[in-house]
Amino acid sequence: MTRQLFVTTALPYANGNFHIGHIMEYIQADIWVRYQRMMGNAVDFVCADDTHGAPIMIAAEKAGITPQQFVANIAAGRKPYLDGFHISFDNWHSTDAPENHELAQAIYRDLRDNSDGSLIESRTIEQFFDPQKNMFLPDRFIKGECPKCHAKDQYGDNCENCGAVYAPTDLINPYSALSGVKPELRSSEHFFFKLSDPRCVAFLEQWTQDGKLQPEVANKIKEWFTVRTNPDGSQSEGLGDWDISRDAPYFGIEIPDAPGKYFYVWLDAPIGYLASLKNLLDGRGIDYEAYMANPELEQYHFIGKDIVTFHTLFFPACLHFSGRKTPDNIFVHGFLTVNNGEKMSKSRGTGLDPLKYLSLGMNPEWLRYYLAAKLSARNEDIDFNADDFMARVNSDLIGKFVNIASRAAGFIAKRFEGQLGDVPEDGAALLHQLRIERGSIERLYEEREYAKALRETMLLADRVNAYVDANKPWDLAKQAGQEARLQGVCTVCIKAFRILTCYLKPVLPELAARVETFLNVPPLSFGNVGEPLETGHIIGTYQHLMQRVDIKQLEALFEPPVQAEQVLTATESAASALPGGEAIAPTISIDDFAKIDLRIAKIVQCQAVAGSTKLLQLTLDVGEVDEAGQPTTRNVFSGIASMYKPEDLSGKLTVLVANLAPRKMKFGVSEGMVLAASHADDKAQPGIYVLEPFPGAQPGLRIH
Ligand code: MSP
Ligand code: ZN
Repeated sequence: MTRQLFVTTALPYANGNFHIGHIMEYIQADIWVRYQRMMGNAVDFVCADDTHGAPIMIAAEKAGITPQQFVANIAAGRKPYLDGFHISFDNWHSTDAPENHELAQAIYRDLRDNSDGSLIESRTIEQFFDPQKNMFLPDRFIKGECPKCHAKDQYGDNCENCGAVYAPTDLINPYSALSGVKPELRSSEHFFFKLSDPRCVAFLEQWTQDGKLQPEVANKIKEWFTVRTNPDGSQSEGLGDWDISRDAPYFGIEIPDAPGKYFYVWLDAPIGYLASLKNLLDGRGIDYEAYMANPELEQYHFIGKDIVTFHTLFFPACLHFSGRKTPDNIFVHGFLTVNNGEKMSKSRGTGLDPLKYLSLGMNPEWLRYYLAAKLSARNEDIDFNADDFMARVNSDLIGKFVNIASRAAGFIAKRFEGQLGDVPEDGAALLHQLRIERGSIERLYEEREYAKALRETMLLADRVNAYVDANKPWDLAKQAGQEARLQGVCTVCIKAFRILTCYLKPVLPELAARVETFLNVPPLSFGNVGEPLETGHIIGTYQHLMQRVDIKQLEALFEPPVQAEQVLTATESAASALPGGEAIAPTISIDDFAKIDLRIAKIVQCQAVAGSTKLLQLTLDVGEVDEAGQPTTRNVFSGIASMYKPEDLSGKLTVLVANLAPRKMKFGVSEGMVLAASHADDKAQPGIYVLEPFPGAQPGLRIH
């Protein structure tokens, strides 16, 4: 009986590249998905970028581009990571896609119009408003003095100095982190999802405590039904209603029948799972509603421990009370730390850069193996430790497993023209022992107990190696009249290797594919472990299946960022410093270059900027005139005050990017950018140098 599975990983915020924590989550889910596929089950495995919310809107504004362009740029960088670590998503979509707008609005309408009574309520609340930016400020964008310890510049929700938790309105001398101005309290209508509704509470108590969730997760959730901590630190009883709306300007999905109101990003983010699935199914010509209506469909979400509330309370409640299917389970993992380091910052990530790992020529399956060897079904943190990594890969994966093939294949190829022989009796017993573990290893994968599955597999590999050591094929090869025995022993090794490869295939898909070619067998699955390779089967020529980890690679991987910029193209190649500390950017066409309009500009005036140690304010003549034919100038801020005094630059010529979108800065609007050179690591190698043309150039000339 084949199962129909819909599987996701959490949707990463589209405000930065993946860090190793994301990759860990994808590897965990991917192993499970590959296992299910090997069992003959049908799996749709999807993800998407989580695009909405104030932080992304603000980051885009800072970059001078639309949020749509901003998230598109991030999305464009996803593929090398996913391909690089063999993550087998069927679809990668976006929460800003039309499918998600439609689904989120439909779900909201169904909640609002619930025939047993609406689950949406509107209330007026007071919030800080930035009068200069003309927007309500999320807590993260309000700063001020801590009411408890009086530390300055603390965030609106808690103090990093003394740990106090409070509401933004408790801050002393609050200011907007966006504009620096004092925020005003303004009231606004917000929409709430009534999580405290008795129907909701009853449903969620049942849904979270019926035994499907991991016990440690269910226990934690139980506490939320009795007490909750309010933003001001006080405690209330039971589940609180959930504020699901935000006021314009907001990068998000409009709330139906409520002009100027948008869904809070966490309302539409998990619905993005469904939108990505729908997009996948549409492409295949499959009806989404019919697919979801299949009572056999199983739906699973892999997530990290920091986002459990959203996935076990809000999301199932939204789905259930809008008349939709709820997830069959939520699989929660702990956090990955690196070399006993702190937990990675969600946005920056530290320690182990996944792309650097790949660019150093490190094998992605080393990481898959290593992480699998540490992962269990429990919500526990795990640590990437460089020494441990090298030991596990070199002594277990290569020393115990890969070596079995290399020990036997040579003799079969050279002495028996690649033909397998008959299995001797002692070998048959060994192979039998390997095969009967199949059920137990399958169960461990199913339960996401990968560490245990690998441990069992390696114990089996130990037995095979003991068999090799006992039979010493290298001695048999030297003795006359031992051909049949030699062929038999090596045949046992090859057959054992095939079984072990199958057990490791969810973790090591690429290696398994190479083994299939080498053994000349169809794709391995758990179902064909029992089918013997016939006597006389001819295997291919053995090619080295996997390199060992070289300590130099690990050293390079964890070199501090200055040297970290020295990307090695091949493992052996010596580290060579990159020009200016960074690799040359990808090749562009002349048309790409033509999009950038560079002009000679005369610095007619240059002055310091009060309140900034970095910026100089330049007034530039680029030969432009206004409608009345009067010469005009441009105002440009440039971060070059560390190197130049205003009088150094006044009257000089330089180069301006003349068609850059104007950018609103704290001190005014910047209408372009002056070209200047600096090292990629400006801390290690400070210095920024403004460009100046050869004599004779005139303001307004274009640089071709
Ligand atoms: N956008 C939300 C999720 C929306 S799901 C509808 C989000 N994004 S995230 O980019 O911050 O995190 C994505 C996933 O990565 C989460 O499951 C999170 O727990 C996981 N991890 C983030 N840092 C991690 C580690 N250091 N280790 C393991 N997983 C980590 O949250
Ligand atoms: Zn404090």
